[in-house]
Amino acid sequence: MSVRFPDEPGFQGRFAPVRMEGEIRGLEVTQGEVPDVLRGTYYRVGADPAWPPFVDHDFYFNADGIVSMFRFAGGYVDFRTRYVRTPRFVAEREARRSLFGAYRNPYSDDESVAGLSRGLANTNVYWHAGRLLASKEDSPPVQVDPDTLDTVGEWTWEGDLSSQTATAHPKIDPRDGSLVFFGYAAKGETTPDIAYYEADSSGRIVHEAWFTAPYSSMIHDWAVTEHFVIFPIIPLTSDLERLKAGGPYYVWDGSRDVYLGVVPRRGTNVRWFRGTNRFASHIMNAFDDGRHVYIDTPVGEKSAFPWFPDITGAPFDPEKSRGYLSRWTLDTRGDPDEGFSEARLTSCPGEFPRTDERWATSEYRFGVMNLTEVPGQPLDDGLPGFRWLASIDPETGQMRTRFAGRDSTVQEAVFVPPVPDAPHGHGYVLQLVDRHTTASTDLLVLDARRIDAEPVATLRIPIRMPGGLHGNWVSEDQLAQRIG
Ligand SMILES: [Fe+2]
Repeated sequence: MSVRFPDEPGFQGRFAPVRMEGEIRGLEVTQGEVPDVLRGTYYRVGADPAWPPFVDHDFYFNADGIVSMFRFAGGYVDFRTRYVRTPRFVAEREARRSLFGAYRNPYSDDESVAGLSRGLANTNVYWHAGRLLASKEDSPPVQVDPDTLDTVGEWTWEGDLSSQTATAHPKIDPRDGSLVFFGYAAKGETTPDIAYYEADSSGRIVHEAWFTAPYSSMIHDWAVTEHFVIFPIIPLTSDLERLKAGGPYYVWDGSRDVYLGVVPRRGTNVRWFRGTNRFASHIMNAFDDGRHVYIDTPVGEKSAFPWFPDITGAPFDPEKSRGYLSRWTLDTRGDPDEGFSEARLTSCPGEFPRTDERWATSEYRFGVMNLTEVPGQPLDDGLPGFRWLASIDPETGQMRTRFAGRDSTVQEAVFVPPVPDAPHGHGYVLQLVDRHTTASTDLLVLDARRIDAEPVATLRIPIRMPGGLHGNWVSEDQLAQRIG
């Protein structure tokens, strides 16, 4: 049986699977110089199907996780990329074909893999308490060796994870190094159960609380502040009977309200603040003043995911799916039915917001995000996707933008401080830029305060990097604390 990917847009052209593992010692620097002060490793994970799907209209959320690393030392950058050996990847590699069916639908799987973990480790790769963890929100994370990218195995906090799932968007509180995280669909696919955890800086779970959401939905990202955690319930809804019938895992339901579930840090009680229907996914940052919570997130009128259909059958609406970075303000002592307010911070639609993680959970002045459009800057190549990087001061709305270039799209950017105590937002921004004409990818090292200037350095990766989701910088000092 030949290996042949579907003749569908998601598997052809710039979205064709890459399926390549390997390493390059000393990436070519095509412009500038790599700063000697950058010492550590940028890890990121892509979603790249190892085998053709046997279901129609599959999409990259359902593709295998492939972790890539860029190790910076002495002005050199060494590159390595390797699939995570999830039980699912190992079983399919042995069979030389897909055995798992539709996105998060165990009822569509080959019966030979019944009961095996469906985790793909394809959404984020993060460091905590000496471990590198690749994660997807439908399963526990998978520990990966930080030098070789060999798979160590599933990490369940030494068995203390009582949820069946763990978010791909945990937050690390810079005050004490604790990992603040949760699992949704925590009692199984489509269940409304949420488990909230905090693990201390040694990686031991020290707090656990369970809640029930107003309805079952995707809880992809969330907000963490010094005194609160907030669960956004956005109406990409799930339903077990629909899933069993072979329907989509999520549908967009424009008739449902949004809820923000507010819980005091290490608390056990939730209050659900109600708001009108809208879409949001990633959080740039959030903070509180003891009473009010401020959450910065791109907000759109409708879902940004075209592969999850509208419950009414309405076609995907690109105009209404545009997300504009906005600030939600919520009075934690107020009436939950009064909800929360929203103020738009930019006029440029985009996503993949990130911040200077040393200021995560605190009032801050620096963020980056990718943009699909910049008013007054028309595109002449017709290429859709994220075409600009922006840096933004969320307090003033002041932005700088950087165009990726013709036939080029950008992946998620990360901020890197040159030294641990560098001032807020002073440092570098790393970003992968896909060059579609040459099917290659550049890694840009940018001055965080002048992202619109010539890059500090440009490194060339001679393959197109698989479409990525998230990644993080791990410093040399952190890597020295590795466990396992
Ligand atoms: Fe995400």
